[in-house]
Amino acid sequence: MITHDAGARGFGSDNNSGIHPEVLAALADANGGHQAGYGADAYTARLQEVFRSHFGDRATAYPVFNGTGANVVALQAACDRWGAVVCAESAHAHVDEGGAPEKTAGLKLLPVPAVHGKLTVEGIAREARGFDDEHRAQPQVVSLTQATELGTVYRPEEIRAIADFAHARDMRVHLDGARLANAAAHLGLPLRAFTTDVGVDLVSFGGTKNGLLLGEAVVVLDPALNRGLDRLRKSSMQLASKMRFLSAQLIALLSGDLWLRGARHANALAALLHERVRDLPGLRVSHPVEANAVFVTLPAAALAELHEKFFFYDWDGAAGEARWMTSFDTTPDDVDRLAEAARAALGAR
Ligand SMILES: Cc1ncc(COP(=O)(O)O)c(C=O)c1O
Repeated sequence: MITHDAGARGFGSDNNSGIHPEVLAALADANGGHQAGYGADAYTARLQEVFRSHFGDRATAYPVFNGTGANVVALQAACDRWGAVVCAESAHAHVDEGGAPEKTAGLKLLPVPAVHGKLTVEGIAREARGFDDEHRAQPQVVSLTQATELGTVYRPEEIRAIADFAHARDMRVHLDGARLANAAAHLGLPLRAFTTDVGVDLVSFGGTKNGLLLGEAVVVLDPALNRGLDRLRKSSMQLASKMRFLSAQLIALLSGDLWLRGARHANALAALLHERVRDLPGLRVSHPVEANAVFVTLPAAALAELHEKFFFYDWDGAAGEARWMTSFDTTPDDVDRLAEAARAALGAR
């Protein structure tokens, strides 16, 4: 039955990991008997309390299958049909969702340059304009990613400044939180301190990269955005009939400290990897290491040698840039082996 080496781990992505044992146990606990489908089950009801304990009493959580779906549903909820979304040029929604926000939601994305993956008010201002121009798709949402695709983290005051700027222009703030837990672990703050409390209107909350089999949630923080969200989730093909199993996993993640344990561990091992490789000759770290990714540029021969031994992605192949990503189940030994192999590959040159 088993067709892979269950002891092998690479640095490809945090979603290359398996299911956290506590999440697997929660799935087994939720099994058996019948529960009404489509969210009318005991687990999805309980899930609301769990999300409110993190995001405040006005939050409502809508479980969905995946992160692209969460973004597509959330962005539609925050936009009119003629709306546009300002995002970083590195945003997952822009570069890694197969055009889903444009194709499925019919929304125009307005990407802007973002150093280390982080938007600034000045960057957003380049596209947050033309509000009285009927020829221009109307910028109605700013979408940030926290932690960013490049492994960096916004501080609460940075998000507050962006939210103030956006709200002053009647725009909404969406946070792609596929790695929101990693951001919390880096900041040492509760989730609401850099979402609800600083003006974020809605969040795509990620579970898959932090130990779930699959499952994310659109978390609506401004109740006005609940209108029609359930319909949008259905018409975007993100309504799970057996929703109890999405909800049971998210409860397992968020009702105790599993979300934070997993994220802290992944971040700590990225920090360890960074420490081990940052001074190697010929290697350059491309972005601050704040969450669970280490981006490096290496000479092509060293990169090729490492690819023979480890699974990871080239981020910018032409520039010789690789992304090494850690996960809740990465071990210090895994990091040692990669760091030593990098040393050998570079030293051999
Ligand atoms: C920043 C970010 N957002 C969203 C996603 C969700 O993607 P998926 O649709 O694969 O679950 C990912 C996954 O890589 C991501 O890195």
